[in-house]
Amino acid sequence: MTGINVWTHARLAPTANPDHIVEDAAIAVRDQHIEWFGPSAQLPATYQSDTATTHDLGGALVTPGLIDCHTHLVYGGNRAEEFALRLAGASYEEIARQGGGIVSTVSATRAASEDDLFASAVRRLDALRAEGVTSVEIKSGYGLNLESERKMLRVARRLGQARPVTVATTFLGAHALPPEYAGRADDYINLVCNVMLPALVEEGLVDAVDVFCESIGFNLAQSEQVFKAAERFNLPVKMHAEQLSLMGGAALAAHYEALSADHLEFLDEAGVIAMRDAGSVAVLLPGAYYFIRETQPPPLALLRRHHVPIAIATDSNPGTSPTTSLLLMLNMACTLFSMSVAEVLAGVTTHAARALGHPDVHGEIAIGAPADFVVWNIQSLAELAYWSGLDRCTLVVQQGRIALDKRTVAS
Ligand code: NIG
Ligand code: FE
Repeated sequence: MTGINVWTHARLAPTANPDHIVEDAAIAVRDQHIEWFGPSAQLPATYQSDTATTHDLGGALVTPGLIDCHTHLVYGGNRAEEFALRLAGASYEEIARQGGGIVSTVSATRAASEDDLFASAVRRLDALRAEGVTSVEIKSGYGLNLESERKMLRVARRLGQARPVTVATTFLGAHALPPEYAGRADDYINLVCNVMLPALVEEGLVDAVDVFCESIGFNLAQSEQVFKAAERFNLPVKMHAEQLSLMGGAALAAHYEALSADHLEFLDEAGVIAMRDAGSVAVLLPGAYYFIRETQPPPLALLRRHHVPIAIATDSNPGTSPTTSLLLMLNMACTLFSMSVAEVLAGVTTHAARALGHPDVHGEIAIGAPADFVVWNIQSLAELAYWSGLDRCTLVVQQGRIALDKRTVAS
């Protein structure tokens, strides 16, 4: 779809804010970008000429494309058996310490071919897209050696080519200690920083760098080494921080001007202030909180008091959040974390865009922004966080192209 496309008769929420809806709006798109939007009555004549293709949206609600800014979509196997063990009483941490958890997904991912990994991940990606996701972050971290981390990141890039979705890749080599490095965590971190990262950057596979800073992951000093390595390549950083305990990781991430610190159930006020000062986004992951039956919710009151932008993501992964529904995460963030509809919608649009830090992802309908938007079969934006399971998405436009069209489905 090149040239000029004009989408008319929309109830448009340009920033997904329920209090700011432009009734009877039009969006004018030239090639991949938004050139104009506003009330239809003010549509400039150039967009009403014969050269423009017009699409009537019939008064439907339109939001920016949704952004899932934290996923581990690419992996081999699944961990349904570990789920059963946890139901029988074992904790996530205990299973990890006994050599299960992330490391069991590492074995399955190492054994899988690139095509196998693509085939399983594309199903999960399509499920996200079916709910209006137009941009997604995908982490490595189940390979834990150069060959398998490369395989994961290549699959992530391929997903972005095979589907109309913007993919941002994150290198998470420091996700867990691979068994062959048992007792040698510092040596493994050296490998991550001095062998894996340079090679993967050279191949154009890395948009950002992440670390799992935790007692079952890596300590502060090791995390800082990874951040310093990222800095040498001018790459932005992120951190899995304060998920199971307070480690001080979020403050360290803020010191390195992290795009985001993620999870954050155990975050303290000093960490919140450091994040605010650095402009880092707090990415909350209600699916993981729910699935590992965490009882300490993230410090919403502190995040609000210090005006830290909050994003919501699926954390889609086989161990702590085996979900492919970003809309369900909105519902969970409201019910489990007492967030408002306006907060969770900002969390998957404007704030998620900041956490992603990708030049092609703006998270809002704005002049000059990529034309990523979603048409919904709902009356109010609250319905995005209210239902679980109802198919609410009728049309997705990504970079100006129709990425998904369910309008022909009989009603
Ligand atoms: O985001 N916390 C660390 N990483 C993932 C879980 C990975 C796994 O258990 O496979 C997370 O929760
Ligand atoms: Fe994660």
